[in-house]
Amino acid sequence: MEARVIAEEDRLGELPAELKDPGGSSAAGPVQRILYVTSEMTDYVKAGGLGDVSAALPRSLGQLHDVRVLIPGYRQVLAVEEDIPVVARLPAAHGLPACELGRIDCADGLTVYVILCPELYDREGSPYGDESGTDWADNDIRFARLGLAAAQIAAGVRDLDWTPSLLHLNDWPSALGSAYVAWAGMTTPSVLTIHNLAYQGLFEPSRLRSLGVPDSAFGVEGVEFYGKLSFLKAGIVYASHVTTVSETYAREITTPEYGCGLDGLLRKLDGEGRLTGILNGIDESWDPRTDSHLESPFAPNDFKGKKANADEVRRDFGLAVSRGPLFAVVSRLVHQKGVDLTIESTETIVRQGGQVVVTGRGEDRFERAMERLASRYPGQVGVRIGFEEPMARRMFAGSDFLLMPSRFEPCGLSQMYAQRMGSLPIARATGGLADTIKDGVTGFLFRDPSLGAMLSAIYRAVDAFGSRRKLNAMRRAAMSEPYGWTRSAAGYSSVYDRALAGPAP
Ligand code: ADP
Ligand code: GLC
Repeated sequence: MEARVIAEEDRLGELPAELKDPGGSSAAGPVQRILYVTSEMTDYVKAGGLGDVSAALPRSLGQLHDVRVLIPGYRQVLAVEEDIPVVARLPAAHGLPACELGRIDCADGLTVYVILCPELYDREGSPYGDESGTDWADNDIRFARLGLAAAQIAAGVRDLDWTPSLLHLNDWPSALGSAYVAWAGMTTPSVLTIHNLAYQGLFEPSRLRSLGVPDSAFGVEGVEFYGKLSFLKAGIVYASHVTTVSETYAREITTPEYGCGLDGLLRKLDGEGRLTGILNGIDESWDPRTDSHLESPFAPNDFKGKKANADEVRRDFGLAVSRGPLFAVVSRLVHQKGVDLTIESTETIVRQGGQVVVTGRGEDRFERAMERLASRYPGQVGVRIGFEEPMARRMFAGSDFLLMPSRFEPCGLSQMYAQRMGSLPIARATGGLADTIKDGVTGFLFRDPSLGAMLSAIYRAVDAFGSRRKLNAMRRAAMSEPYGWTRSAAGYSSVYDRALAGPAP
């Protein structure tokens, strides 16, 4: 016993003796203490949907539980919040540096803990890479530090009057949290939400020592993935429960086609009742009546108001005046999003009298191809390479259709934002797209990831555009879809109950 305690201290850094392993003794009461661990939060920085979810879900869950967020102290956080008070110190462990823990009390009552470690996080760029999009070379250390901080907080930290009864981890950057808990012999339960299985956080085994991964854990039953260390697999192996962001995606990832090499493990989890799909929601800021980013706010029945937004978007993108349909693309420009299909379909759209506006950022080849389309179809195709949320909002509000031919889509928020703004998504029937779009009612779905299948959905959309009655009925149906966070929060709450009731694996 003595030896085990010393080993725990060693692994998590020097723990104060009186605070050892309080997580293990947490009682499952109606209000749980949840530490929501994330690498993005739209209040400060967002690379995709995870930022939006991390800003909204903890706030909604806060109605049911004592939820606090843990994020790295990126430059963007330090820029928004001056003089963050330090509330605790987290010791160094293995090759991971010591750091300070800051506390932000948001105006709406949410508590956000920030890992203050300038050498790892205070940099110009995104959470994951530099301005040119190249991943930071020390991402293993940066995000192992995030997971370790979560485990250290779960173990109890001197001067911090709060210990979580459960860790809620998100995607590979925080996934190692559950492994550090297990390797320290603690029993704090954890829930891992997979927002995207395709990003796994794979690193060379030469890094194991400095990250504090025990040799015994580096095998197929543990954190090894074809000779590499996989942060995401570690999370899946050690978390009490795994969730994904839609029900369809939860089923899809148990198949070889969508399982990214982890489908066997995920099937096992599913068989044990430890894999659950919970659909994301969207927050109330997505409302065309009140959105301050829109020059012409409009009510769900006011389609003239919607048209004013279309005219503004056309002007913004330098498009010709037109009475034809306006198609929007608001997307990371990556293979996942079926960008190649969008590019191939543009010629047909323009021939049908449609126009296309694109805002996106991502792989160089797709950015260039989009720019070529704009110069090939001046006045009909407008492209902005970049990431600008106000522009994205105006595009959802002004467009008639959103193109989202994703090859896979764990949930997808853009299609829900578009629907709320009266723009009908044209999307592949996969993951969250299949769960949020009713074909021919609130959007258009197609099955095969092929140009032919996408074009047939586009033809159906153009047909609907030709019939005002049909178009407006579909817009009304899309705008009144009851997306919100309450239902998702209830889903997470029952997953927390199960994780707190059962033993960690
Ligand atoms: P993912 O997280 O896979 O990128 P989601 O649909 O869940 O896909 O979330 C993407 C989020 O990022 C949405 O809020 C979308 O509006 C936004 N977004 C994507 N690309 C851009 C862009 N270029 N400019 C502004 N917002 C963008
Ligand atoms: C990921 C997925 C996207 C999902 C988002 C938020 O980025 O690609 O489908 O909506 O996470 O959960």
